[in-house]
Amino acid sequence: MEILIRDNADVGCVLGAKIIAKTIRTKPNSVLGLATGRTPLRLYQELIRMHREEGLDFSQVTTFNLDEYVGLPGTHEQSYRYFMQENLFRHINIDVANTHVPDGTAAELHNECRAYEKKIIAAGGIDLQLLGLGRNGHIGFNEPTGSLRSRTWIKILSEQTLRDNSAVFGSFADMPKHALTMGIGTIMEARRCLLLAFGPAKTRAVEQMVEGPLSAICPGSALQEHLRCTVILDDSSAAGLRFADHYRWIDKNKLPWQRHD
Ligand code: GLP
Repeated sequence: MEILIRDNADVGCVLGAKIIAKTIRTKPNSVLGLATGRTPLRLYQELIRMHREEGLDFSQVTTFNLDEYVGLPGTHEQSYRYFMQENLFRHINIDVANTHVPDGTAAELHNECRAYEKKIIAAGGIDLQLLGLGRNGHIGFNEPTGSLRSRTWIKILSEQTLRDNSAVFGSFADMPKHALTMGIGTIMEARRCLLLAFGPAKTRAVEQMVEGPLSAICPGSALQEHLRCTVILDDSSAAGLRFADHYRWIDKNKLPWQRHD
């Protein structure tokens, strides 16, 4: 894992956007895996700014989102399709036909999951997968103790995840308790992973993910086995790391071509 610690979430998100922009500029028809949640919002704002002010071109880009709530149509304000439309897609020149979010309203959810995996393969696989981190260490909606080899499937959300996300959702009672999510196995096949985690609520999950044992108890720890995974943190989410000074040292002594900013 490449660990990059920045002063605050804002700087971290701008750095994350730079990495994504470089991916798109190097390969204009990149396939991006995208995430929802509060964490990547600022990163999406920066991508929109780069599109408007620097001509970052999304016309050939294809996207696959990590997950979606079961039962919510794309028109529902709390659906992840709606989130992506509002916070990114409608502000850039992406072809909406090339944007994919699992369909949580599909009549046959199992078929929807299998078809989603096939679509990713047909698109040539994911070049860069953006990820957030749940407070319990989940990535996508892969909750603790789920298989580290899982594929896109229907998952039951943990009580903690429901509580954490209810702040955004508005009401705990109305929240769907199930979601479709890419599996850990799906995420691990992305050629590159970029995970962002900021703030004190993520300190423990970050510690387990980066320095804890590789264990299904912390699904994010599977990324220790990924060949090219970059983790962007801020001072508070990195506060529990034993080797924080080492990561800062590595970062400071990178060769120019190894640097992202
Ligand atoms: C949700 C999403 C994840 C996200 C995580 C963290 O459950 N399914 O993809 O990374 O929660 O959310 P936030 O960024 O709001 O802290």
